[in-house]
Amino acid sequence: MSDAVLKVQSLTKKIGNATIVDNVSFEIKSNEIFGLLGPNGAGKTTIIRMITGLINRTGGSVMINGSDLDKDFEGAMNQLGAIVENPEFYKYMTGRKNILHYARMSSNDISNERIEEVIKLVKLDHAIDKKVKTYSLGMRQRLGVAQAILHKPSLLIFDEPTNGLDPQGIREFRDYLKVLASEGVGILISSHLLSEMQLMCDSFAVIEKGKLIHTKEHMIDEKTETIHQVSFAVNDGALANKILQEQFAEITILTFDASTISVSATREQTAQINRLFNGNELDVYEIGITRKSLEDKFFEITEQEMRESV
Ligand SMILES: Nc1ncnc2c1ncn2[C@@H]1O[C@H](COP(=O)(O)OP(=O)(O)OP(=O)(O)O)[C@@H](O)[C@H]1O
Ligand SMILES: [Mg+2]
Repeated sequence: MSDAVLKVQSLTKKIGNATIVDNVSFEIKSNEIFGLLGPNGAGKTTIIRMITGLINRTGGSVMINGSDLDKDFEGAMNQLGAIVENPEFYKYMTGRKNILHYARMSSNDISNERIEEVIKLVKLDHAIDKKVKTYSLGMRQRLGVAQAILHKPSLLIFDEPTNGLDPQGIREFRDYLKVLASEGVGILISSHLLSEMQLMCDSFAVIEKGKLIHTKEHMIDEKTETIHQVSFAVNDGALANKILQEQFAEITILTFDASTISVSATREQTAQINRLFNGNELDVYEIGITRKSLEDKFFEITEQEMRESV
């Protein structure tokens, strides 16, 4: 048994002659925030609608926490919380009434304590007894999240969850996603906003024209072997170049002039270079790191794939 909370295999959707989703497979573990990345029209929403059982699949299988969508639909749905389209609420009822109504419709028993816990988690305590029609977009979104997590699902799915949220709202959303993931939930979010995914996801899949073209894990882990462009401001660039050439041959030197030297180095190598410079009585005034953003990598990946496919 794998510990995947979502296992998607060979997912395919054809409409007429068009293949909208083409043989897509991926897995999400508990504790993991997984991003489905791709431009408009790539097929993200279609994938999510198939996983959540909103539309039929042409082919492929979906397992949610061990329950097969085809064999045990209800079991699978019990493990799932999702916001696919904008969540619908009764606007003339309070947030609390909406939640209570939803809790009563759920096939799970949801205690009052759980309801209070969820309201606090999404930070709606101050507004929960106000009518939903007075809520801002961000508050409605939080109410939607509250509904989605009420029955403690193992898998959460959000399609473009931060659409229309302000930076503060996005940040709060990110914070409680991390809390949920740390409690053992696996989370799938879709977006075409790459810079945002960079801050939110542990791993991601790039989807383009219905095909999954790349998956990459832990792009943003500071402690990994990720290579950055690092520039050192020094009192003697030529000496710095000489020291590295003679004593640290595996380092790639990108450029140097009288006062700076730029190299490709990991985090650990950056510290080693600094020690080496200090040991050779070279003065280091500043160390600057240019991290490749996920956006750069996304375009690198998609451009490379496009070159390979022609
Ligand atoms: N019911 C349908 N009939 C025909 N084509 C459809 C249907 N639903 C989706 N499509 C097409 O499938 C493709 C993928 O659509 P989808 O909504 O999944 O993309 P998306 O990645 O979610 O895009 P966005 O970022 O704009 O939300 C698009 O080209 C869309 O026009
Ligand atoms: Mg979409």
